[in-house]
Amino acid sequence: MERARKAHRLKGIGKSLMYRRRLDDYAAYPATNNWDDVLSTGFSDERYYVVQTGAKVVQRCILMTTDPGDLVLDPTCGSGTTAYVAEQWGRRWITIDTSRVAIALARSRLMGARYPYYLLADSPEGQRKEAEVTRSVPKSTPTHGSLRQGFVYDRVRHITLKSIANNAEIDVIWDRMQPAVDAALADLNAACAGWPEPFPVTTGGRAGQRIDFTTPGTVTLPSGEMAPADGFMEWEVPRDWPMDPHKTYVQNMYERRTKIIHCLHAFWEARIARQREIDASIKAKADFEYLYDKPFPDNTKTRVAGPFTVESLSPHRTLAVDWDDELIDTYEAAEGKRRASENPHDFKDFAHMILENLRAAGVQQAHKEDRITFTALHGWPGNWIAAEGTFMEGDVQRRAGVFIGPEFGTVSRPDLVAAARECGDAGFDIMISCAFNYDAHSSEFDKLGRIKVLKARMNPDLHMGGDLKTTGAGNLFVIFGEPDIRIVDQGDGTVTVQVFGVDVFKPQTGEVQSEGTEGIALWMLDTDYNEESFFVRHAYFLGANDPYKALKTTLKAEIDEEAWESLYSDTSRPFAKPKSGRIAVKVINHLGDEVMKVFAVE
Ligand SMILES: C[S@@+](CC[C@H](N)C(=O)[O-])C[C@H]1O[C@@H](n2cnc3c(N)ncnc32)[C@H](O)[C@@H]1O
Repeated sequence: MERARKAHRLKGIGKSLMYRRRLDDYAAYPATNNWDDVLSTGFSDERYYVVQTGAKVVQRCILMTTDPGDLVLDPTCGSGTTAYVAEQWGRRWITIDTSRVAIALARSRLMGARYPYYLLADSPEGQRKEAEVTRSVPKSTPTHGSLRQGFVYDRVRHITLKSIANNAEIDVIWDRMQPAVDAALADLNAACAGWPEPFPVTTGGRAGQRIDFTTPGTVTLPSGEMAPADGFMEWEVPRDWPMDPHKTYVQNMYERRTKIIHCLHAFWEARIARQREIDASIKAKADFEYLYDKPFPDNTKTRVAGPFTVESLSPHRTLAVDWDDELIDTYEAAEGKRRASENPHDFKDFAHMILENLRAAGVQQAHKEDRITFTALHGWPGNWIAAEGTFMEGDVQRRAGVFIGPEFGTVSRPDLVAAARECGDAGFDIMISCAFNYDAHSSEFDKLGRIKVLKARMNPDLHMGGDLKTTGAGNLFVIFGEPDIRIVDQGDGTVTVQVFGVDVFKPQTGEVQSEGTEGIALWMLDTDYNEESFFVRHAYFLGANDPYKALKTTLKAEIDEEAWESLYSDTSRPFAKPKSGRIAVKVINHLGDEVMKVFAVE
């Protein structure tokens, strides 16, 4: 209590004694479970996705529950806010989505992301910053740049009554500086003794409410009371004594008043000096708390997202072997050795549901006007073909055989060949295949004799089966054509690849045309395809949504213009001919649909 008094932390109100807490004693408040502060910032986030979560919400969750270097999993990726935020805060991440649209959005959001560079605690710059903040000598222990040690965080003082009460330095300062205050007070009281006029301040006769004269800047109110006959107590001394402009003093009174003012100022100087030292001591001894959302940035650096991979159920070829390790003839389905479905009854229910949706939604392509709308769609009792659909090609009615792939699994080229053969035998004009996934080799198959084969990819929403309303809305069946590609031998052992666009079926004319590159968001090259996994060795962006645009502006000075240009291009950089004899090209549109095509390069 005595120390709190010396520190000027007590305040009397009536008969009660209160603790005087200052605004800057603790400028931070713990967050509660009511996060109303995240609302407004959510509106200023750039929008990528219709159900995008505010970055600040995700940030708080991550900062509350993880440390730098930890792994964050978000199985409902959406536009990738979790990955985006985790990346900023030095957390590793995995994120998953059933929607290719979401994955495509998240991928380009991360690729174009820019972040501040936070000083690592485990670095020489971090050690220097820490020393600067704590006003101590920098550590000279070796550093390893480990993210696990975290960042250098800003912090906030937390002055509590406890830290004041336990601060023995206050007594030392008091003992050293109080004599000067006492002496100045004695001088003041001597100068004031017998002063015949009211003081322009409230002294209140030592009762009732008093004004806090001790805090610089406090307004003093004239009340016209006389100075106490036995002099001021320390806490009664007025802060100032303004001159009354309407008053003329006789010479002798004027000199006395000047002397009083002089003593008044001397008292306050001593009083404020004591308070300053005590306050500084309180601050220095107080606890502090880290602000984990305020690491110190190094403003000379900009960070981009670290390397990440996108794994998907990608078109892949499975090489089946039989009991004596012989490769099974991959064309056996074409010879009718494979069955259309393991359990025809289950398949019928699935096929029925798919047809209902297909009837309502039609088949979409990159451009709206190329949508195939069925004038009629009925079941067809084929081995492979499940339905017959009619549509108008200009004025001519065409008949399409509809092949439906399995509910779980990938359609392979032999399946398509067998189905197309059935289409030919049954006199259809065209085949429309609907499947969740196609293997790599089916991408090369687009025609059997006169039968054109259109491969539509089914939206995973169709896995919801009967729960999905057949509204006809949504991109449920989308054809994303073959990439139209030219491989150019540079004559020096290297080749380049150029993409011209993707092939699109024109239902108006029945033609297949190559469209420009604007429908392509991203294309990637595996320059030495091993026929198992697609390794992204080159990646190029095209089309309107240049994810690197903002990044380019920021990093203009850092990065060679030519290198940027080569990333935003329809032509690859030259690369050595593949040892495997094959390259693979993967093309992705803005909806995240992808096609992969394999080419032999001799
Ligand atoms: C509300 S969004 C997430 C939004 C995200 N936090 C953001 O900021 O953009 C939910 C996501 O979960 C995905 N989703 C729904 N069911 C899923 C499942 N079973 N497995 C994985 N993802 C799923 C949806 O495709 C959708 O993108």
